[in-house]
Formats: sequence, C-alpha cells, structure tokens
Amino acid sequence: MQVFTDSPEATEDLGEELGKLLQPDDVVALVGELGAGKTVFVHGIARGLGVEDTVSSPSFLIVQEYRGQCPLFHCDFYRVNSYQELEDIGWEEYLNRGGVVVIEWANLIPEALPGEYLRVVFSFCEPSASSRCLEFYPIGRRYQEIVKELAKRCGYWE
Ligand SMILES: Nc1ncnc2c1ncn2[C@@H]1O[C@H](COP(=O)(O)OP(=O)(O)O)[C@@H](O)[C@H]1O
Ligand SMILES: [Mg+2]
Repeated sequence: MQVFTDSPEATEDLGEELGKLLQPDDVVALVGELGAGKTVFVHGIARGLGVEDTVSSPSFLIVQEYRGQCPLFHCDFYRVNSYQELEDIGWEEYLNRGGVVVIEWANLIPEALPGEYLRVVFSFCEPSASSRCLEFYPIGRRYQEIVKELAKRCGYWE
C-alpha cells in the first residue's frame, strides 16, 4: 500500500489509525531520510495507543518507553553502530515484553528485526515541500491483515 500525505498532521493521523490496530509485541520498522516524517508518524502511533506523554525524538537513547494501552517502545537506530550494542541493552527482550515496538532507521541494523514485522518506507515527493510518500510492506500474515484494515479505514487501495 502506498499513501501520499501533504502535511505533518496527515502523516500523524495515519500513524494514529495504525496505532489503533497494533497489539503487544507488534513490530513496526520505519525507514527513510532525516526529516521524512518518521517521528511525526510515531507521534500518531502513540496517540492511537492512548499514550498521554509527549513523544520526543529518542536520538540520544536507543529505546524510549511510553505508557499507553500497552507499552510503546520507541527506538532509534540512527546512532547504533552494531547489533552488539543492541544486545548490550537486552534487545531481544524488548521484542517480547508485551509492548508495541516502533523503530526509526530500522534498516541500519537489519539483524535486530524479527521474522515478521511491518516495514514503512518514507520518502519526499512532489509537488510541495510538505509532500511525503509512505509505502507499507507487511512481512507476515498478521501484518498483511493490519495493512488491509488500515487501507479500508483510510479509504486507500492496497
Ligand atoms: N507530509 C509530512 N509528513 C510528515 N512530516 C512533514 C510533512 N510535511 C512536512 N513535514 C515536516 O517534516 C519534518 C519531519 O520530521 P521528523 O518526523 O522528525 O522526521 P524523521 O523522524 O523522519 O527524521 C517535520 O518538521 C514536519 O513538520
Ligand atoms: Mg526521527
């Protein structure tokens, strides 16, 4: 599924709809250049999960935890140099702690991803400076269902 947004609000709203569909131990891998809208999208996911704290960019921490209907683990691999650094913080456990795991710059440490997850690729596009393209690639049946439902709710074709 491919979605175009024309404002930060539209990207956040889409994240919120996704957040409403996510359950404990789901993993969402976000990929895209600096400023493409990954953190904006995570704000929306947090809203959809009922998180009330302000969600900030976790660039100085690898994982930031928020409390919503279930925990939200907001991760950023931008400054992670190797999978070893993730092992040192007990990465495997984050994947099985009953929280939703959302990872910015997930492509930098591919070994960290589980067998199944939802990949979302962000890119800049035409016609304006606030145009973004979000492509959803579900890996595994659970994520195919999520994307199908998201497409239905937002009125997009898959
Ligand atoms: N359609 C859009 N979707 C998301 N962000 C947008 C959009 N248009 C403009 N922006 C701006 O782009 C920036 C995206 O920042 P951010 O979400 O932190 O990017 P990333 O986390 O991918 O580096 C914000 O300043 C936001 O206001
Ligand atoms: Mg970011």
